[in-house]
Amino acid sequence: MKKILPLTHGLRGTIEVPGDKSISHRAVMLSSLGDSTVEIKNFLRGADCLSTIGCMRAMGVDVVDGGDRLLITGRGLDGLTEPTNVLDAGNSGTTLRLLLGLLSGQKFLTTFTGDDSLRRRPMGRVIEPLSKMGAKIVGRNSNKNLPITILPSTEKLCGIEYEMPVASAQVKSAILLAGLRAESPTTIIEPHPSRDHTERMLSAFGAHIERNGRAITLESIEKLSAPPSIEVPGDISSAAYWIVLASLVEGSDVVIKNVGVNETRTGIIDVMRSMGAAIELRNQRSSGGELSADIRVMSSELHGIEFGGEMIPRLIDEIPIIAVAAAFAEGDTIINDVGELRVKESDRLAAIVEEFNRLAAGAFEAAGDSLIVHGRRKFRAERCRTRDDHRMAMSLSIFGAAAEGVELDRPSCVEISYPNFFEVLKA
Ligand code: S3P
Repeated sequence: MKKILPLTHGLRGTIEVPGDKSISHRAVMLSSLGDSTVEIKNFLRGADCLSTIGCMRAMGVDVVDGGDRLLITGRGLDGLTEPTNVLDAGNSGTTLRLLLGLLSGQKFLTTFTGDDSLRRRPMGRVIEPLSKMGAKIVGRNSNKNLPITILPSTEKLCGIEYEMPVASAQVKSAILLAGLRAESPTTIIEPHPSRDHTERMLSAFGAHIERNGRAITLESIEKLSAPPSIEVPGDISSAAYWIVLASLVEGSDVVIKNVGVNETRTGIIDVMRSMGAAIELRNQRSSGGELSADIRVMSSELHGIEFGGEMIPRLIDEIPIIAVAAAFAEGDTIINDVGELRVKESDRLAAIVEEFNRLAAGAFEAAGDSLIVHGRRKFRAERCRTRDDHRMAMSLSIFGAAAEGVELDRPSCVEISYPNFFEVLKA
């Protein structure tokens, strides 16, 4: 159990957030497929990324673990070896979905499992396009849940043209990773742009990949040429908690250092600014094809807004914390097109409505695929359930700190993406 007390003064000074989760996963996977040793700096040592390391090691990849610095020696596109046991993706949808793509077309058999949450999440969305490419993948029941087995491939996969029904970077990345060794080019059409870290990193590894409007085309390749090092920027999804807390608590003025500001991820900044937040980006720079900046946030008066559509993939993981901001804003906030929240680490739409309403009765409502937040209801301290969902645990903590406090039943899930979150909050 964890008790969070209300903050008594504004946030001041500088904050450093851990490395980006999405980029850390991709750095490990692509480095494993390269032909040399790569140094990964500012790697996120969260449980999800450690699941990715565990899986790659089980397939023969040499990972020298120096804390937030890793040395990975690639085995080439065809050099992974058959794991002698089931691979465990833990809580990590990114590990599982991307590896399903990466391992489709391999000549050996792999079986995946994961924790209770991951075993409930739908995998048909990746299995379907990968099967169209020729992969032989079997999952449990019609939703294609874990455990999932990829059968050894006897032939090369074929490239496909695939129009994705949902904007999902995990699905897109799985298809691209499968397409690397396919016989022909692969084209994916996204309904709205989702995070493009895979595309950027593939380019940095020498792959030919192009975007044309909503379409992304990848040529297959004989080998990937890894850069000597990859510097992972800070995770904007982790910075989001401090962006919101500093905006809400009077007298705050903080700088969050070295945060990734790739425009497929900066929806939180755009939405918070539209709500009236005072946010400045400083020292913008680029490394390995990814932009980063320092983010200054000062407290401000927020007001409700309405958004949805193509904004959603740009802030999909930040909706719980934006809902917290909306509870403190003047008027109503309406967030449309958030059906995807139902299939995250928990059913986040239900979790937001049920758990957040304990802290502000009647403020949160779900209506179809929309979330409505009525700002400035009465706040109170309560005991809430994290549902073992890291983003719910951190959003509830920020809610409590900015309002009347909160008690969390199972706080350790913050390990997934932000292991020292509570220490930073305390500091
Ligand atoms: C991720 C993509 C998103 C996001 C997840 C990380 C990624 O999932 O919610 O936390 O690294 O590709 P979807 O692809 O399901 O939208």
